[in-house]
Amino acid sequence: MHLPLSLLPAYAELVGPVRGVESPAMLERLQSQLEAGDLDLANVFVTLSPNGKEITNAIRLVRIGQDEAFLTPWRGREGYGTREDIGRLLTEARARARELGVRELGTRVHDSQMTPEYRGGLLDAGFELVTRRIEYKTPLAQMFAEDRSNFVWRTMAETGESLVLDLLRDASIDSPDAVDTSVGPSAIENTLGEPYAGLDPRAVQVGYLEGEPVAILFCLATPEDGWSTITFIGIVPSHRKRGLGLQVHRHGIATLRALGGSTYHDGTSEANEAMQRLFAKQGCIEYARMEEWRAAPTA
Ligand SMILES: CC(C)(COP(=O)(O)OP(=O)(O)OC[C@H]1O[C@@H](n2cnc3c(N)ncnc32)[C@H](O)[C@@H]1OP(=O)(O)O)[C@@H](O)C(=O)NCCC(=O)NCCS
Repeated sequence: MHLPLSLLPAYAELVGPVRGVESPAMLERLQSQLEAGDLDLANVFVTLSPNGKEITNAIRLVRIGQDEAFLTPWRGREGYGTREDIGRLLTEARARARELGVRELGTRVHDSQMTPEYRGGLLDAGFELVTRRIEYKTPLAQMFAEDRSNFVWRTMAETGESLVLDLLRDASIDSPDAVDTSVGPSAIENTLGEPYAGLDPRAVQVGYLEGEPVAILFCLATPEDGWSTITFIGIVPSHRKRGLGLQVHRHGIATLRALGGSTYHDGTSEANEAMQRLFAKQGCIEYARMEEWRAAPTA
């Protein structure tokens, strides 16, 4: 069932502590998301205790980009979270995603949260394991930013969208973290998680080397809470393995600082050795390993 408005405080109580936020602050945050139209209660799936006053299990569908969405990890009370409970909520969420025209539906589950019941529920609801991921969380102040670099950088506002799409496609070749560019221009919004027009133009930048566009960076930061990330970094195959990755990443870090970020969150597939080496060289701090699951197209 969907979350009834009357149980918003109970939902805040359930999800607040896991995000390190006190329930009243969480409730306030949810209420302002509701008012701004960023939270639709029809996208929050819950089960209730027998007296109907407590939420026992919850999963939320969050839209990103034009046709992509993810599910927040399952949250539940001690003693709940059976394979049936989780499977049912995931199935409801999938049906809702389909109704909304979502093409890609994913969910990430930390190793510390995964249980045999959770895994069973994912399989029952038609999800498949895509990859394992490593996540990093590092204060930007202790990271290496740009010093000397041979690159010239231009924003997408300056280069135009079609060059960015070409680079996104070429830089995705042979990458375990490839972006699906078969969808056309919406690949840009899908990678950013929001429309470029509403962001600082430096959110998408092209790196030129001797006049040739060879690198691409997607950078996001929210100064209100200091969160920041590079949603995609890539170099065309002909220019990889020359140490350029470090220069590109350092420009990304300098951009995140300029955009008002203070903590750098990022991650990569466990299969992406080049990216892991880059994170290690840049002093990034690993904080979690997780599984990435995706709703199978046919299920
Ligand atoms: C990730 C990427 C940006 C790194 O750029 P790069 O210029 O190739 O990297 P560098 O030359 O600076 O090398 C970084 C380190 O990774 C190592 N490395 C590079 N490619 C590697 C590979 N395929 N396998 C293992 N290690 C690799 C390098 O040897 C280097 O480590 P070292 O200095 O300890 O030897 C580039 O490989 C790329 O564009 N990949 C495709 C897109 C992608 O996966 N992006 C990440 C998703 S967000």
